[in-house]
Amino acid sequence: MNKKKKGGLVPFILGIAAALIFGWNIFPQLLFSHKDQPITFSHVGHMTHTQKDLKDLDDCVDCHDYREDGSYAGIPSLESCAECHSEPLTAVPSEQLFVNEYVKKGKQVPWKIYREQPDNVYFSHIAHEEYECTECHQDMENADSLPAYYENKLTGYSRGTMKMWECERCHAEEDASNACYVCHK
Ligand code: HEC
Ligand code: HEC
Ligand code: HEC
Ligand code: HEC
Ligand code: HEC
Repeated sequence: MNKKKKGGLVPFILGIAAALIFGWNIFPQLLFSHKDQPITFSHVGHMTHTQKDLKDLDDCVDCHDYREDGSYAGIPSLESCAECHSEPLTAVPSEQLFVNEYVKKGKQVPWKIYREQPDNVYFSHIAHEEYECTECHQDMENADSLPAYYENKLTGYSRGTMKMWECERCHAEEDASNACYVCHK
């Protein structure tokens, strides 16, 4: 009798443990694949470089700017990088790769966007202009390299995409509308 009872409980516990390990550790690893950014890039390096004959990059908008119509240009264009990198400035391998494979060939860098939204979501930076970048993004100002990027194998979206609840929580706190049509086209 006792034996039978025990025989039921142990496999049950082992089964739960296996399910939890799968759910928490293995499934996410199967679902997301690690993708490298095309080249490494240091925000700290660029915000603090001291070469006197180069333009000073002391503000985020020097690279992440708005267009004339108020839309967000987002990731800087190759042309804005080429102002300084038409020829290699250093012997750093990532810079050599950048200059030879992208700048000299006129090829835009296919940067991966951590927070990228699905097509059915509307987001505008200018409407959120009064907030610090770190309200919604990882702290890039103090980053020496780009964070790891993970892609959802089923949807192709970034794991770091900004989630609906993160948007709605702030909208609720700030008395901004949470009607579906505000964010969904
Ligand atoms: C020299 C140009 C340059 C400057 C100056 C710069 N950035 Fe960037 N930033 C980049 C590049 C290139 C990327 C592309 C990496 C990527 O794919 O996200 C990037 C990516 C980012 C991202 C990630 C967006 C996403 O979801 O993928 C954030 C956030 C960001 N920068 C914030 C800042 C902040 C805050 C500052 C000012 C402290 C700043 N940047 C200054 C070039 C710059
Ligand atoms: C105002 C001049 C200037 C601009 C604009 C600029 N860089 Fe740089 N970059 C430098 C200097 C100077 C260095 C050398 C080391 C340092 O100070 O970090 C450098 C270093 C690098 C390196 C090697 C070190 C690292 O960060 O990993 C890469 C790669 C690089 N830049 C890519 C870019 C890209 C991509 C852009 C455009 C988004 C860009 N740079 C825009 C001046 C510039
Ligand atoms: C209210 C939240 C929020 C704030 C504040 C915010 N961002 Fe973003 N950012 C996002 C979202 C969401 C995306 C993805 C947009 C998309 O895919 O349409 C994004 C995308 C980006 C990108 C990738 C390029 C692009 O346009 O998709 C860059 C670069 C970026 N943000 C930089 C910044 C910088 C620099 C600041 C501060 C000056 C900032 N963001 C403030 C939410 C925010
Ligand atoms: C940190 C707080 C905060 C976060 C996070 C936030 N929002 Fe907002 N959002 C606001 C506020 C406040 C307004 C109202 C701005 C105004 O009325 O000028 C707003 C307005 C908007 C608008 C209306 C813009 C317009 O042109 O009228 C849209 C669309 C929007 N947010 C989408 C989003 C999406 C999508 C996300 C998440 C990816 C998001 N927001 C995350 C605070 C936030
Ligand atoms: C403040 C902005 C915001 C509002 C308001 C909002 N959503 Fe969303 N919604 C998002 C964002 C951002 C995503 C994508 C990220 C995610 O999947 O969490 C999303 C994703 C979704 C998805 C999943 C789509 C997919 O591709 O997985 C559904 C369904 C959805 N929203 C329905 C609604 C409905 C219904 C309402 C109204 C009750 C609503 N949303 C209101 C921002 C918003």
